[in-house]
Amino acid sequence: MLALSKSPRAERLVTTSPLTADVVRRYVASDVGAVVGALTRQGLLVSVDHLGEEVTDEAQTGAAVDTYVSLLDLLPAGADVSVKLTALGLRLSQRLATANAAAICAAAEAKGVTVTLDAEEHDTIAGLHAVHAVLRREHPEVGVVVQAYLPDSLDRCEKIGAARVRLCKGAYTAPGGYRRTADIDRSFVRCLKVLMAGTGYPMVATHDPRLLRIASTLAVLDGRDTTGFEYQMLYGVRPEEQTRLAGLGSRVRVYVPYGADWYAYLMRRLAERPRNLAFFLRSLVSR
Ligand code: FDA
Repeated sequence: MLALSKSPRAERLVTTSPLTADVVRRYVASDVGAVVGALTRQGLLVSVDHLGEEVTDEAQTGAAVDTYVSLLDLLPAGADVSVKLTALGLRLSQRLATANAAAICAAAEAKGVTVTLDAEEHDTIAGLHAVHAVLRREHPEVGVVVQAYLPDSLDRCEKIGAARVRLCKGAYTAPGGYRRTADIDRSFVRCLKVLMAGTGYPMVATHDPRLLRIASTLAVLDGRDTTGFEYQMLYGVRPEEQTRLAGLGSRVRVYVPYGADWYAYLMRRLAERPRNLAFFLRSLVSR
């Protein structure tokens, strides 16, 4: 599925099929304003992602900045936007991506909205952290994602522990990256211990019940109250758990992707769960 997420031929096939609409609707907001409103009314926080990645045309990176700036008008204070640096030109130049991300950070700050930089393919991670370090000088609230499947994730957490850090398992593969669930989970817990014991703001991005329990235990042991960290989950994944945790007083943020460029995002979601794939294939053949 991850290989298919990069195949233009598969993308044409899937995106032109009217049969995929149900699956897309499950994971991608068709009306972002309405979805943000509904989640907010349920006591959930949001991080909104305008879908798009791997852009190699400078004009398109400027258009992505404009879209994020317009999006800010729809968001309540306390919201977050998730940004992929390859949508802002990281493949063209680090300087361009930094300038574009800085423009989004400045506009977001003025609205009381934070920005988090998503982590993408392994060959963009050094650039991601370099851009994050530059942005933090002017925008200390800018957050960054660490992927536990990368063996150097613990080092990363130790170095950037004072920042807002979203910890996730990782939706990609990399040479030398952990592949076995047990190895990824162990790495996740090692990172979580460092982040919870540190001085930053941990954002625990998982739906995994065991890791959620470990996070809540570590938070108590490290003396963090419910404002000292947050859980994050994806739109469409375990929504009852999102509202259950929020009902207990925890901060829960839902990652809400929207926009026409949903193909690669959807393929990563299907790759995470074979049952999703079966559901998707059944929906293709059953009409
Ligand atoms: P795991 O995949 O083991 O799932 C645990 C349980 O959650 C499953 O048993 C199932 O019940 C449910 N579940 C998980 N995925 C599901 C799905 N797609 N559909 C239905 N049920 C599902 N990755 C990355 O590389 N860079 C990034 O920047 C981000 N950003 C990010 C933000 C947020 C808020 C979240 C929650 C996740 C990400 N990710 C990410 C994705 C992350 O790396 C990972 O691929 C997914 O969260 C799935 O991993 P889990 O930790 O949920 O565990």
